[in-house]
Amino acid sequence: MALVLALLLCFSTQSSVLVSGVISPPDAALTPRANARHLPDIIIIGVRKAGTRALIQMLRLHTSIAAAQNEVHFFDWDSHYERGLDWYVDQMPEAQPGRLTVEKTPAYFTSRDVPQRIRLAKPDARLLLIVREPTERLLSDYTQVYHNRLEKRKRPQPLETLLLRNGELNLDYKPLNRSLYHTHMQRWLQAFPISSFHLVDGDALVREPLAEMQKVEAFLKLQPQISQNNFYFNQTRGFFCLRDGRQQQRCLHSSKGRKHPQVSPHILSKLQHFFHEPNRRFFELVGRTFDWK
Ligand code: A3P
Repeated sequence: MALVLALLLCFSTQSSVLVSGVISPPDAALTPRANARHLPDIIIIGVRKAGTRALIQMLRLHTSIAAAQNEVHFFDWDSHYERGLDWYVDQMPEAQPGRLTVEKTPAYFTSRDVPQRIRLAKPDARLLLIVREPTERLLSDYTQVYHNRLEKRKRPQPLETLLLRNGELNLDYKPLNRSLYHTHMQRWLQAFPISSFHLVDGDALVREPLAEMQKVEAFLKLQPQISQNNFYFNQTRGFFCLRDGRQQQRCLHSSKGRKHPQVSPHILSKLQHFFHEPNRRFFELVGRTFDWK
């Protein structure tokens, strides 16, 4: 009899409980492997076109990570923000206890109110920022907009028209402004201490994904798990592709790694010269340098 009672008790905490003939849902708090949604532990805040998709896909290789599928745009779109934190939590993946959840919305990095909004909602968030050599990032940004316009059957504009105004660089051109990392980082550092951030080197992530991901694992205090076996080089794509624990292979979408426009050497050197000082200020802010020649 005691054995039967023990079995019944055990069963009642693991699955549905039978009360007066009614099956009530299991108590999530008592169910050791319950899946639940919670505010993200980790947020990839940007920068757009620096490798944010590669970063979240590579993070998912770790069994302790559950990632949101889409860009949530909770903190930067007022129409989403007004829906409240419960709505935000609903956009998160279900995660077993102990697993960390992550979302990425690259537009967060350059949106004015986002740092304070995140601090209010999740002061202990771990923030991942992936950066890339600013001129290359700008060209990638331009290329993305170029293709978006083609898809919408709009005529793409030549880069020079957008980038230059009276022969000088147009600082209002958004892809240029987004590459001024220090101006945006300054705002983030008013909301969070530098220890909340880990900076991923987007150029290094392309060349040596494992080394960069090992640094991410260390920052997130994850058991080292991502290995060389998770990556293989795809000659056709010219990038590393991913192999998960079930040996499923996957390259990033073909919109990643598109050919950039030909830019005159004059404009290239103008850009590189221009970014020199903003880069120096960014390095000073974050206390490290990047190999951006
Ligand atoms: P390009 O398309 O300019 O080459 P995001 O995901 O933030 O939009 O960034 C896109 C960039 O991710 C791509 O820029 C590409 O260089 C970079 N990237 C990094 N690792 C990659 C990978 N393994 N496969 C494809 N693209 C990768």
